[in-house]
Amino acid sequence: MDPNAQAPIQVGSPSYSLVARDLSLWYGSFQALKNVTVDIRHGLITSLIGPSGCGKTTLLRCFNRVNERYGYVTTKGEIKIEGKNIYDPDVSLIELRKSVGMVFQRPNPLPISIYENVVFGIRIHSERTPSRSDLDDAVEKALTEVGLWKDLKDRLKGKATELQLEQQQKLCIARLLPLKPQIILMDEPCSALDVDGTRAIEELMFALKGRYTMVIVTHNMAQARRSSDECLFMLMGELIEHSRTEDLFLIPKHPKTADYIEGRYG
Ligand SMILES: Nc1ncnc2c1ncn2[C@@H]1O[C@H](COP(=O)(O)OP(=O)(O)O)[C@@H](O)[C@H]1O
Ligand SMILES: [Mg+2]
Repeated sequence: MDPNAQAPIQVGSPSYSLVARDLSLWYGSFQALKNVTVDIRHGLITSLIGPSGCGKTTLLRCFNRVNERYGYVTTKGEIKIEGKNIYDPDVSLIELRKSVGMVFQRPNPLPISIYENVVFGIRIHSERTPSRSDLDDAVEKALTEVGLWKDLKDRLKGKATELQLEQQQKLCIARLLPLKPQIILMDEPCSALDVDGTRAIEELMFALKGRYTMVIVTHNMAQARRSSDECLFMLMGELIEHSRTEDLFLIPKHPKTADYIEGRYG
C-alpha cells in the first residue's frame, strides 16, 4: 500500500469533523493539556492512546465541554466542530451534547426500561410531545443500528440494568443515535467487558463507521491497532504524534511514540 495514501474520506463531506487549535486546560493551577492542536477526520475512528494520567479523558471531555462542570477548570484555545467554535458564547451546551455524544468506561444505562432508555433523549429534547409511533420507530431504528433489535424486541419493557454488560454498552450507544450525533466519543468503552464483549463493541464501531465520527480512548494498544484508522499518542498533556494507525505502530515518527509502543514506559 502507498505509505502516503490517506484514509478514504466520504465524498461530499468536509474532511474534518473536529479541529482543536492550541487547546490548553488547567485543573486549578495544574496544566493537564498543553497546546493541543489536532484535526479529527470525518467518519473515521480515531484512537487516543498514552500512559495513565496523560490527559486522554481530559481531551475527550473538552470535545463536548463536560470538563466545565468543575468550577476550577480553565480552558484556552479553540475547538471547531463543523466549522463552529464550541467555546463561542452563543453555543448551546444542550445542542452541543446532542451532536457530540459520549460513552463511558462502565455502561451507565438509566435504571428504567430498555425502551425508555432509548427514547429518554427524544423526550427531553423534543419541543412537542412525540407520538407513540415516532418513539416506537426511533427505538427500532436505534436498536437495529447497534445490533440489539432482534434480541431485545420482545423485552423492551425489561430493565436496562439487567442486561449483560455488552448489551448495556450497546444500549448506551443506541440511546445517543435518535439525537443524530455527528461525533461519538468513547472513553475506554470496553474496559468493563470480557474478550467477547470487546469484540462485539469493536464490530459495532466498525459498523457505525462512515455515518459517525468516532474518537475512542483506549489503554489497549492492540485495540487501537485493530479498530482505528488514525491514532493520537499523548504524553503528559501533550499530543506527541498523530498518524495513520498502521504508520504509528510500524513507523512511528517520534522516538517517544516508539518508546511507548515498545512498552518502555506507561
Ligand atoms: N477533575 C480533576 N481534577 C483535578 N485533576 C484532574 C481531574 N481529572 C483529571 N485530573 C488530572 O489531570 C491529569 C490527566 O488526567 P486524565 O485526563 O484523566 O488522564 P487519562 O485519561 O489519560 O488517564 C492527571 O494528572 C489527573 O490527575
Ligand atoms: Mg482516562
